[in-house]
Amino acid sequence: MSESRIQNAALRGKIVSADEAAAFIHPGDNVGVSGFTGSGHPKEVPQALARRIAAATGRGESFRVGVWTGASTAPELDGVLFGVNGGSMRLPYQSDPECRKRINSGDAWYIDAHLSHVAQNAAWGHYGKLDVALIEVVGILEDGRLVPSTSVGNNPTWLELADRVILEVNSGLNAKLEGMHDIYTVALPPHRQAIPIARADDRIGDPYLRVDLDKVVAVVETDCPDRDTKFSEPDENSRRIAGHILEFLQYEVKKGRIPANLLPLQSGVGNVANAVMAGLNDGPYENLTAYTEVLQDGMLDMIRSGKLVYASSTAVSLSKEALADFNANLDIYRKRIILRPQEISNHPEIARRLGVISMNGMLEADIYGNVNSTHVLGSKMMNGIGGSGDFARNAYLSIFMTPSLAKNGALSCVVPMVSHVDHTEHDVQVLVTEHGLADLRGLAPRQRAKLVIEKCADPKFRPALADYLARAEKGANGQQTPHLLGEAYDWHLRALRGESM
Ligand code: COA
Repeated sequence: MSESRIQNAALRGKIVSADEAAAFIHPGDNVGVSGFTGSGHPKEVPQALARRIAAATGRGESFRVGVWTGASTAPELDGVLFGVNGGSMRLPYQSDPECRKRINSGDAWYIDAHLSHVAQNAAWGHYGKLDVALIEVVGILEDGRLVPSTSVGNNPTWLELADRVILEVNSGLNAKLEGMHDIYTVALPPHRQAIPIARADDRIGDPYLRVDLDKVVAVVETDCPDRDTKFSEPDENSRRIAGHILEFLQYEVKKGRIPANLLPLQSGVGNVANAVMAGLNDGPYENLTAYTEVLQDGMLDMIRSGKLVYASSTAVSLSKEALADFNANLDIYRKRIILRPQEISNHPEIARRLGVISMNGMLEADIYGNVNSTHVLGSKMMNGIGGSGDFARNAYLSIFMTPSLAKNGALSCVVPMVSHVDHTEHDVQVLVTEHGLADLRGLAPRQRAKLVIEKCADPKFRPALADYLARAEKGANGQQTPHLLGEAYDWHLRALRGESM
């Protein structure tokens, strides 16, 4: 494959094995890797690095690296590195069981930043120095420009900041991805300018990544597919949640508050988000658009059916079946999908300008509408905030959704006070569970609480929540947002004891 995928002669001269490339990564290095929601991550060098780390650890030496990514990756990256306890620090979003285990055991630091903030935080040096960029691409042009892979993430920033660059050129991914990307970077203040995106399909950059060729220390050829992101068939709860959202959007259209083709959609990760897309695909809408960070099966289906005319994202995250279709029809999808750096796909300026409809999953909400997306029972990390905060604060409509119960009905996802706050009541306009939808716009906290309990809580927990609110209204020291501070976390304490909330 070398000549066709790696057209630059100098970089062809740097082709080495994954093991040789991994030798350029030293103990204590910070490594900026490509990868976003299981796509576009390097596939072989991280495994070689994990073998080196395991060998060093076996000899009693300490060998750990900081792992900076776009978002979640896959077992052959986060899984292997954290499996050998080789990651001292991780940022920003993750969802790998091994990585999660190290974060929750205290072995690894985890910096859970808004995805749109990461590039500028790194450029300002808040995360330390970036030693190595390890980036997957699908090709290298004769002049050294890089054809990005199935995600863009923070790659432009990693390539710019790192001292050394390792490229994985993956011939297992379709070369026809060339032209799908729109690489545009923003300067740091005070030199930052307005980002000229007025529609989700505006192209403002160019399709290639650039790298200082002198920094490239190794090029590795791979032939591997992306992670197969499995989606289950929407269950009854997901279908009901989707139904409530569809009904609400139709009402908003009827009221004239949003156009008939809605506003650009942002849809979060996971099965529920995917099911909502399936619901929209079956709905009465035409000419939909998306300004989102990850394009899952549901959105691909909508592009195929013609309902979604174009989508801006930073990554695709597809099941095996959807990936096969994506690859077979890339000439069509390239005209309908734009992959941008995550600093742009998630940029608050654009989300606010376009008036995005943001739909994200959550773990729990409280009666006043504060949302916890990340921490199980206050202390334990699930995945991370991802881009949900980028969109929620700046969307025209910010919707959070969850089944009303978790863990076989033992936990209520509506609680008196969330055990961790990711999205405050000010950023949450609509809450949805399978039981109903609470439109919280224009309501004061006590009005919100009544609606959240009535519409969203499971019937078996409603009386206890209503009782809490009633007693708080009598017993609290103020009536703006009444709480019983000695009692607010009793629900979580019962769950920690293994009892039903
Ligand atoms: N307390 C404890 N655990 C809970 C819970 C609660 N209130 N609610 C859900 N969970 C658990 C579930 O039991 C499940 O656990 P399991 O994996 O052990 O079975 C897990 O959380 C996921 O829940 P699920 O109902 O399957 O939801 P999901 O796949 O839609 O994911 C989030 C929900 C919140 C984890 C996911 O949306 C997320 O990571 N969000 C944050 C990032 C984000 O929004 N990114 C998109 C921005 S564009």
